[in-house]
Amino acid sequence: MKITHSIFILLLISISLSKCSKETIDENSIGDVIIDSVFYDTDIKPLIDANCIGCHSGSNQSAGLDLSTYKLVKFGAEFGTLIKRINDPQFPMPSAGLMTADNRGKFDKWVADGFLEKE
Ligand code: HEC
Repeated sequence: MKITHSIFILLLISISLSKCSKETIDENSIGDVIIDSVFYDTDIKPLIDANCIGCHSGSNQSAGLDLSTYKLVKFGAEFGTLIKRINDPQFPMPSAGLMTADNRGKFDKWVADGFLEKE
């Protein structure tokens, strides 16, 4: 009787714990873990072009930030707040809302691998 009781409680605890960690990952600021190598030319530039370039290049360089070349994006990711801001649910970049966890994970992988430019 007692053993059944504690097993039941353990089960309840583990269910609520797993629920908790899942929610944290979903609603927040952690990108997916990406396994394949990520390159600027084939992975990062298309994301920048689709999500950032309109406000961060040419005559519209919001916050003085130009993201139109490999070197500039690398600089922002390495020394600036680029990675922080694309994962910031409160002040996201793009400002309209966070990119998917998959796309944000690609930036993390790109940084972790040392900013590979092309295959
Ligand atoms: C709709 C316009 C718009 C888009 C799209 C946009 N940004 Fe921004 N961004 C801004 C504005 C305006 C600021 C300055 C205000 C602020 O910091 O929120 C800014 C600020 C930033 C900053 C902080 C710069 C600093 O030195 O303080 C970073 C980093 C940044 N953006 C990166 C990005 C990235 C990366 C993308 C695409 C994933 C992106 N932005 C898309 C308008 C935009």
